[in-house]
Amino acid sequence: MKGIILAGGKGTRLRPLTKITCKQLLPVYDRPMIYYPVQTLVSSGITDILVIVAPDYAGQFLHLLGSGKEFGAHFSYAIQEEPRGLPEAFIIGEDFMDNEPVTMILGDNIFDTSFSPEIANFTTGGLVFAKQVPDPQRFGVVEFDSHMRAVSFEEKPKDPKSQFAVVGLYIYDHHVVEYAKSLTPSARGELEITDIHKLYLKHNQLKVSTFTGLWEDAGTFDSLLAVSNYMAAKAKGEVR
Ligand code: TTP
Repeated sequence: MKGIILAGGKGTRLRPLTKITCKQLLPVYDRPMIYYPVQTLVSSGITDILVIVAPDYAGQFLHLLGSGKEFGAHFSYAIQEEPRGLPEAFIIGEDFMDNEPVTMILGDNIFDTSFSPEIANFTTGGLVFAKQVPDPQRFGVVEFDSHMRAVSFEEKPKDPKSQFAVVGLYIYDHHVVEYAKSLTPSARGELEITDIHKLYLKHNQLKVSTFTGLWEDAGTFDSLLAVSNYMAAKAKGEVR
């Protein structure tokens, strides 16, 4: 299993902080945000990791993360010239993946658990995770039938069909590369990860697991503050 950390994007919602550096290098309590996705992958047993960054900050990422030795991992780096959407990561990462499955985590998505069992047991298809949230409009939303089987996905719906957001850690087999190449940009001009889920669903190859652990998409001021406070409390032994 290979790993990809997608850490490009524009970070417009965090301006002016993201005029100084990029979102994934901003602090979450006592460390740069990207340390968390690195830790999530490494603690899940993934050590061969491609870090995809925007051109302006590539040097800062290399300076911070280096070879990966300090983290017990091996990092490779690639540049995404423009934020053309999450699935572009699989096109950029095609050679890196080399026909193996991949776990992709978004560089601003913070978890407090490892995904080792899911990753160790993964064989083929796609596996994504859904968590009940109060504000599903911000995310990709999955609708389940009465047997908790996924039936539809919508990206940032105004009128969500459920409270279940798809979290920013996705496990796919090597077919994801051809699926990503087959996509066309959505109305907002991006390739959409939701369209990848839909393709796996269409081929009856998608599993959606519900997830109850800590998950925060740290892309807004409030979520950045909330996750910083959580990590501070955890460091002081106030949460387990
Ligand atoms: P978003 O938070 O959706 O986008 P953004 O980071 O550009 O922020 P904003 O909406 O405030 O302008 O992106 C989720 C994650 O994916 C984040 O870590 C950035 C990354 N990303 C890329 O690396 N490339 C892309 O093409 C996109 C769309 C996002």
